[in-house]
Amino acid sequence: MIVTTKKLFEAAYGKYAIGAYNINNLEQTMGLFKGCVDSKAPFIIQISKGARSYTHKLMLEGLIRSADQVFPDALFAVHLDHGDEESCYDCIKSGFYSSVMIDASGEDFETNIATTRRVVEAAHAKGIVVEAELGQLGGVEEHVAVSEANAKLTDPDQAKEFVTRTGVDSLACAIGTSHGAFKFTGTQGLRFDVLTEIQKRLPGFPLVMHGSSSVPQDEVARINAAGGKLQGAKGVDDTQFKRAAELGVTKINIDTDGRLVWTRVHREYFLQHPEGFDLRPVGKIFMAEYAKFIASKNEKLGSAGQLDALRAMLQVVA
Ligand code: G3H
Ligand code: 13P
Ligand code: ZN
Repeated sequence: MIVTTKKLFEAAYGKYAIGAYNINNLEQTMGLFKGCVDSKAPFIIQISKGARSYTHKLMLEGLIRSADQVFPDALFAVHLDHGDEESCYDCIKSGFYSSVMIDASGEDFETNIATTRRVVEAAHAKGIVVEAELGQLGGVEEHVAVSEANAKLTDPDQAKEFVTRTGVDSLACAIGTSHGAFKFTGTQGLRFDVLTEIQKRLPGFPLVMHGSSSVPQDEVARINAAGGKLQGAKGVDDTQFKRAAELGVTKINIDTDGRLVWTRVHREYFLQHPEGFDLRPVGKIFMAEYAKFIASKNEKLGSAGQLDALRAMLQVVA
C-alpha cells in the first residue's frame, strides 16, 4: 500500500532510517518488494529522471501497482529522485507520487531557495511531500584541505534558513558522501560533526542522506574475479546508519549497491554458463539475491521489523 513519505518520517524519526531504493525494471521491483516484506520493513521506492525515460514513465508506475497487489503486506512511498522543476511538476500532476525531490543544489543559494519554494507550493497544494538538497555531494579527495572540503558540505546555519524560507519537508545534506561506487580514496567517511550541528538547528526535522551505498568489498572482489574492472571502489560504512538515524536522518538513499548485485550475478552466471542465452534463469537468481540484499540493508537501517508498529500507527489493516 502506498503511504505518504511524511508518515514514514514521523514513524522513523530519531529511531531508524527508511531505505530509499531506486528501481528501473521488473526484476529490481520484485526483489525490492520481496526483500522488504521478508524483513518486515517500510521502504521508499525512488524513480530517477533516467529511470522514467529508460522505457516509458508509465511502465514503472504499472510495475509498482502490480507489485502492490502481489505483495499486499508492503507499505511504501513512491518518490521522484533528483528531479528538476519540469519532472517535479509532471510527477505532482500524475497523482501517483508520494513525494518529489527538487534538486537545485547546483544553483546558488537564493536560486535554490526560489526554485524549491515554487515546487513546494505546487506539491503542497496536492498533499505531496518535497525533499530538497543543500550543499554539494561529491567525492572529497583525501589530500583536500579541511576548509576546502567543508565548503562543499551543507552549512548548518544555511540549512536552517533554507528550510524556513522554502517550507520544504525534508533536506538532503552533503555530509561527505558522493554518488556511485568510488566515494572515498582513503580514510574519509560520514561527517557526524556536521550532521550534529544541522540537527541542533533543525530538531525534529527529517534529514536525508544521498550517496549511501556501502560498496561491499566482497561484492567488488567477486565482480572483478568474474571479469569486472572496479579497482578502488569504496563506499559508506553501513554500521554507521543507526547513528545517523539518531541524529535525524530518516531517509537513506541506496542505488549503486543494487547495481553491484546485478553486475555480480550476471557476470558470474554467464562466466559459469558460457553457452547460456536465456534471460530467465539469471533473472531469477538476481531477484532472489536482490531480495536478500535489501533485507540485510534494512537490518542495518533499523527499518527491519518495523512494519507491524507502522501499520498500527497508520491504522492500516493488512
Ligand atoms: O543519484 C542518482 C541515482 O543513483 C539514480 O541514478 O540517474 O542513473 O538513474 P540514475
Ligand atoms: P549511491 O550511488 O551511493 O547508491 O546513492 C544513490 C542516491 O543517492 C540516489 O539518489
Ligand atoms: Zn542521490
